[in-house]
Amino acid sequence: MNADHQVTVFDNLSEGHRVAVDERAQFIEGCLSDRETILNAVAADQPEAVMHFAAFAQVGESMTDPSKYFRNNVANGINLLDAAVEAGVRKFIFSSTAATYGMPDTTVPITEQEPQKPINPYGESKLMFESILKWYHELHRLEFVAFRYFNAAGCSEKLGEQRRVETQRVKRDRVRLHDRCRHRWLGRGRRESLRRKSGSPVRAAHSVVSPSWSCTGGVRFQDVG
Ligand SMILES: NC(=O)c1ccc[n+]([C@@H]2O[C@H](COP(=O)([O-])OP(=O)(O)OC[C@H]3O[C@@H](n4cnc5c(N)ncnc54)[C@H](O)[C@@H]3O)[C@@H](O)[C@H]2O)c1
Repeated sequence: MNADHQVTVFDNLSEGHRVAVDERAQFIEGCLSDRETILNAVAADQPEAVMHFAAFAQVGESMTDPSKYFRNNVANGINLLDAAVEAGVRKFIFSSTAATYGMPDTTVPITEQEPQKPINPYGESKLMFESILKWYHELHRLEFVAFRYFNAAGCSEKLGEQRRVETQRVKRDRVRLHDRCRHRWLGRGRRESLRRKSGSPVRAAHSVVSPSWSCTGGVRFQDVG
């Protein structure tokens, strides 16, 4: 929005907060399980790109209620994908996770070439969605970037984090240290200037990809912390 993009936020507020939506954005309170609503919302908006953050994201809960995770993170996500395809959207950015790697064979750093062997339904649901994206690229020419976040944390200029269940290893007051450590995918000069501008590596990654759409062959998988 700082770069004059028009943004619509679609969220059912199951975990999010209305107050966290930037006042410059249009807000639609709706659930991705409601196929008609999301189809209509994307069709009405005709966005240039879709950023898909909506999911359940608690590893422990996914081990006791896998159905909740596969339904929301896979089935409901497909409603959004279909809405994007029907509306002719070409660019899709997906919040995947390092949990798709499971227990890697190598030590850190984990690269994107590491085999993906999730050890919980949460990681599996995200890996399934990555696979679905590959097919939508193949068959519908949808270009996508899947960011595999490593315990992302951060705040905006105005708001901190407020979670029902805290899962973050890195707390808000340590975010800047975290940023310095995890921006390894950006060049050094770029990464420093983005850190200052964006405040968090996840925001930095999205702000780099969105305007330039730098994904080779329309597909990109990217670790980001
Ligand atoms: N925070 C991390 O460390 C981390 C790490 C890896 C991946 N991720 C992924 O990043 C994304 C955002 O994570 P977060 O930590 O901000 O989680 P979050 O729970 O704060 O945000 C998820 C948002 O999606 C909304 N939502 C969930 N299901 C929905 C549905 N069916 N319809 C509409 N809205 C729905 C929630 O209300 C919430 O606002 C998730 O996809 C998560 O899996 C996060």
